[in-house]
Amino acid sequence: MGTLGTALTALHMEFSNELTYAPSMALRHANQAKLENDGMQVLSKEDTETLEQCRSMCKSGLWPPLIVKFDSREGYTVEANAAIKDMTLIAEYTGDVDYIRNRQNDDCDSMMTLLLAADPSKSLVICPDKRGNIARFINGINNHTSVGRKKQNVKCVRYDVKGECRVLLVAIRDIGKGERLYYDYKGYEHEYPTHHFL
Ligand SMILES: C[S@@+](CC[C@H](N)C(=O)[O-])C[C@H]1O[C@@H](n2cnc3c(N)ncnc32)[C@H](O)[C@@H]1O
Repeated sequence: MGTLGTALTALHMEFSNELTYAPSMALRHANQAKLENDGMQVLSKEDTETLEQCRSMCKSGLWPPLIVKFDSREGYTVEANAAIKDMTLIAEYTGDVDYIRNRQNDDCDSMMTLLLAADPSKSLVICPDKRGNIARFINGINNHTSVGRKKQNVKCVRYDVKGECRVLLVAIRDIGKGERLYYDYKGYEHEYPTHHFL
């Protein structure tokens, strides 16, 4: 949390471990998983309980073993500070929820798709520019090289959790202490340019 605090402070961000809704952006009511164009997978009851348990563990001070480190070429990165097992919930992607249409010309490099609605005016993104957690510091793979693709050890999944869309980052294999975390920024949409990624 110390390394995360330093990184958040440097970016003038506040810590928030949950999605936040501001009246000038999207209201919580706008986050409806049933609006997803081809439907959104529903998180099972058992996994929802696990997610809630992880959240309460964090509230009590028990965080996953992650540290934020600055790298001269990749900027902030996230590393495992102890072994992490396959299928471990790394973090929920958090930040302010806004309509995609409000962010068409936004140069924030950390926006995450939350809802792709059949009616595009209802589509939502998570914008961790003012508030967020460790998820926004996790780097992406270069989709254009086999070396880049092999680095992936985390996947990004969107779920319908009690009717609301949520984005979770989950380990897709055992991750060793000291390993840097990477996921595919192009998991749902193919717009994020990763040609220049290491
Ligand atoms: C969501 S942020 C990740 C945290 C970021 N590194 C930082 O310093 O805030 C995405 C940005 O990180 C950088 N980035 C992510 N993955 C990278 C990689 N594999 N190689 C180089 N830069 C990367 C790019 O500048 C990208 O636009």
